[in-house]
Amino acid sequence: MARPLTAHINLAAIKHNYDLAKKLQPNAKAFAVVKANAYGHGAVQVAQYLDDSVDAFAVAAIEEALELREANVTSPILLLEGVFEASEWQVCEDYDFWVAIENEIQLEGFLSSGVKLGKVFLKLDSGMHRLGVQPSAIAPYVTQLKSCERIGELVLMTHFSSADDLNSPATHEQLDVFKQTHDAFSELEVSVANSAAILKWALPEGGWIRPGIMLYGISPFDEISAQSLGLKPAMTLTSQVISLRDIADGEAVGYARAYVAKGQSKIATVAVGYGDGYPRMADHQTPVLVKQNPCCISGRVSMDMITLDVTSLPQTQVGDEVILWGEGNPVEKVAAHSSTIAYELVTRMTGRAKRQYHK
Ligand SMILES: Cc1ncc(COP(=O)(O)O)c(C=O)c1O
Repeated sequence: MARPLTAHINLAAIKHNYDLAKKLQPNAKAFAVVKANAYGHGAVQVAQYLDDSVDAFAVAAIEEALELREANVTSPILLLEGVFEASEWQVCEDYDFWVAIENEIQLEGFLSSGVKLGKVFLKLDSGMHRLGVQPSAIAPYVTQLKSCERIGELVLMTHFSSADDLNSPATHEQLDVFKQTHDAFSELEVSVANSAAILKWALPEGGWIRPGIMLYGISPFDEISAQSLGLKPAMTLTSQVISLRDIADGEAVGYARAYVAKGQSKIATVAVGYGDGYPRMADHQTPVLVKQNPCCISGRVSMDMITLDVTSLPQTQVGDEVILWGEGNPVEKVAAHSSTIAYELVTRMTGRAKRQYHK
């Protein structure tokens, strides 16, 4: 017997979602963004499954890229944040990594390294003000990198701050800045789009798109469901009812006695908690499915358990399956009841939940 908590990972859904990104931008090549352990889905398993189908992978840093190469992943891999230490440049050449350059230290590091790289992604700060070279300062970067014979291809890249907010002027402004800058170097390929931009914004033609969250079947938008976007959820987190009890009107449940029964009630205890990555902030409307029946959390989330008031589901038994998020219970809704976003919920899953991969 083992603790029943399991994250079921639907690899075919991830492939479906990648194909959808490509269909939406048919003239673009697409990275599969698998940083942060493929947003908690298992970078090695996801990348091995997609290796023959994707144009390239993108990760945050060299450790993540090396993990994929050690697992025999052969597609190109881009380091989205580039190189952090001088010693990494040679590793990038040895393992055929593509590298983002976003500041002067990285530029100097590359120029003095002597290494050859298949592609360099020069990052423009078009308005997010987190990483990237200011538009007014980019010309010498382009000149130096373009004249460097050790680069196969130079790509101009940027990242949006607010593409998930369709009413914000920020994406229009960033696109304008990007287009103005690119006009001066129109021979360069481009890379601008995260999932929200791929799904809803008019983008420069061609180049490289960078879908992340949509690969995992999660909508980047508050008001637009993943299902309506044609996405399939990739992670379904399931557990079981492990204990049941009847309590009287006015009796309270769990830590701080935060849930008080209104009338004679049936309480089910389920094996999942914040020690697994389930959000402790989940409120009393947070949805779960008990044997496919909608129900809500009652009481505080503990480290290893949650409690549900299943009075309206009297047939509930120990061993019944509970879907915490995924198929039929979007993780976006759980996040909305937990003061966070679905990105955080899937990414911060601990290793405690078994992963089961389905093709
Ligand atoms: C540079 C860059 N590109 C693409 C992505 C993918 O974004 P999303 O998961 O919103 O598709 C990220 C994610 O943070 C990123 O940092």
